[in-house]
Order: sequence, then C-alpha cells, then structure tokens
Amino acid sequence: MPHTSPLTRATIHLDRLSHNLRLLQELAGGRPLWPAVKANAYGHGMVPVARHLVAQGCATLCVAHVSEAEALADAGVTARVLLFSATLPEHSEAVVRLGCEPAVCTLEFAAALSRDAQRLDRPVTIHLMVDTGMGRVGIRAEDAPAFLERCAALPGLHVRGLMTHFPRADEADKTQSLQQIEQFRRCVEATRNFGIEVRHMANSAAIFDLPDAHLDAVRPGIALYGLAPSAEIANPRVRKLEPVLEWKTRISFLKEVPAGTGLSYGHTYYTNRPSLIATIPAGYGDGLSRRLSNNLDLLVGGERCPQVGRVTMDQSLVDVTALRGRVALGDEVVIIGRQGDAVIGADELGDRLGTISYEIVTGISQRVPRVALGGNT
Ligand SMILES: Cc1ncc(COP(=O)(O)O)c(C=O)c1O
Repeated sequence: MPHTSPLTRATIHLDRLSHNLRLLQELAGGRPLWPAVKANAYGHGMVPVARHLVAQGCATLCVAHVSEAEALADAGVTARVLLFSATLPEHSEAVVRLGCEPAVCTLEFAAALSRDAQRLDRPVTIHLMVDTGMGRVGIRAEDAPAFLERCAALPGLHVRGLMTHFPRADEADKTQSLQQIEQFRRCVEATRNFGIEVRHMANSAAIFDLPDAHLDAVRPGIALYGLAPSAEIANPRVRKLEPVLEWKTRISFLKEVPAGTGLSYGHTYYTNRPSLIATIPAGYGDGLSRRLSNNLDLLVGGERCPQVGRVTMDQSLVDVTALRGRVALGDEVVIIGRQGDAVIGADELGDRLGTISYEIVTGISQRVPRVALGGNT
C-alpha cells in the first residue's frame, strides 16, 4: 500500500447514503430494500458502502457477478447476496460455497447448482429470472411454470424468488412498463403453486414512478447513490435525493501564458488572451474521459472554470484566468460536487458525453481512492 495519498479523491458521504435509503424505504412503503452494490457500488466503493447498508438494516445486497459476491464475503459482509447476471454452470460450485442467491435462467445452471448442492451438502436458493421485455436475460414468462416444474425435481435447489427487470421505467411514457407489470402479474398467478416467497421487479425508476411494481421487495441502484435514474422521472420526490459521491482534486501547477499559446497534446486549444492556467493531477487514467476535452467545467474558488486542451492520462488543464490573484497552488478543484453555491453533477458530465450518470460514477477508476465519511449515520 502506498503511503502518499493521491491529490485526486472521491469522497463518499455515507450520511447521504442513509438519507437516500430512508427516502427509498418510504417510497417503497416499508418493503425490504435490496440495494445494488455491483460494479464497485456504482463506483462508490463496494465494501464500505455494503458495510454501511448492512449497518443500516439492509439484509440483502445485489451484485452482478460471483466475483463480487466473493469480494463481499472476503470482506466479512454478512448479508444475503443476490446475483443479477447470468452465471455459467462452471461457477455453480462457487455460488453454492458462497451461499449466494443467483438469478437463474437456464436449466443447465439449475442442474449444476443442484449437483453441487448435493455434493457439498449445502442447499442453494435461487431466483427465477423472467424476461418480460428487457430482452437481455431471462426465460419467457409463459415458460415459467414448466421451468419451475423441472426445478422442483432438482434436489438441493430452492426457488425463493421470481424476478424481472425494466428496460424503460425511467421514461416519461410508462406504456411498456405497465404492460410488463401486467405480464409479470400473470406470471406470478400462473406460478402460484410453486411456493415462491418473493416477487421483485422494481429498479430505482420504478420505485419512484411505478408503485404497482413494488411487490415484495425492491432493488434500487442509482437512486441510492443520490442520482436520478433520468430527467424524466415524474415523482417530485426524486429531487430529495442527495448525491453521495464528490470527486475532487487540487491544483498541482499554475502558470501564466501569453495569448496564442497551444495547450496539451495536439494543441486543440490556443489561449486568446494572456491566461492563467492550472494543472490538475486527473485525467482519463482516473476516469475523466478524454472525450470531455475542451467540453468540461470544473469548480475552483466557488466558480466554474473551463477545462482547456486535451485531457491526458494523468493531468488536465483548467483556465483560471478569471481567478487571478485569488487562486494558489494546492487549491481544491471540484470535478463532481459542490463548492460554495456552485454544483457540478454526474448528470452534467453524462450529458456532455452523451451518456448517463451511471457510466460517469462507475467509470471513476481504481486509482482514485474512495474516502468514506460519516459512517455512523
Ligand atoms: C436486475 C437489476 N435490478 C435492479 C437494478 C438497479 O437499477 P437502477 O440502478 O436503475 O436502480 C439493476 C441495474 O442495472 C439490475 O440489473
């Protein structure tokens, strides 16, 4: 472990995570919340986030892959762990040993789980993933009874849940999502005799806008981290979310340059006046996309300042001419977060890149330490 703390860091405000958790719990009418902590908790740092959520009473956490369940187990996180993504039969032994609960959508995987459950004398619990319109993984809803019939004949295998996922719950037009709820409701009806305990389908968008989808448990991801699933969420309570992550760095070099100076690789920017240019130790190696070059603002001294020239792997440039006399080496620079009254959200970076906040926060690289604050709230 290096001893020198990097200047570029992500601060994780656990008190805001608690706030968002409570808001989502209220919206879900007290149903169990099963937070998605996959992909390093959407870039927020999986283990500290998971520990905090468990301390806040979350008994189930969701990840995408077996390796993530392993990382939680290695860190001593004791929650039930649901696996969202399709898993190959070759990982069935790891699933059984870990005691996590996979979403299952092939008989091959169900059979492999049953075999390993018997061999290791450890029953395994699964959730049947039904594709009601996502078009990614899952069995067809009409095949669910026959699939469950086959599962019932597999010793050591317990089907605890029936689940599906929304592709368009974050859109203003809910027509397709409402059809999915109806289709899932029919699937629940058709599988009533199989003793399934929990039915679940709601992601963050559905928690806000589709109360009929709340069912027995909800699976929020993005909203827990204080980010709106999209700009089209109708429920005004989406504005109560508090972004959990702030991404900050500091000025590592400051120089005056004359008008007409070409800056950074390719000289994609020339100063048009004598300028004060700050260097920050953050670049695409930290997850600050090179495609943001010359199309990004940062906060310095409580003001928006333009990023100039190409974002490079480790360093980028900011025009701080407007702050002449008020800016110094070592000053804080905000990439995502607040400074005084000024705010830059992950959504803003997403809009500039033609993507979504999910990709921005998840894309902050491993080099950036996540520093968790406020763990007792
Ligand atoms: C199956 C499943 N459920 C729930 C979620 C959480 O979604 P969101 O982050 O939009 O709340 C995801 C995220 O991708 C998912 O794949």
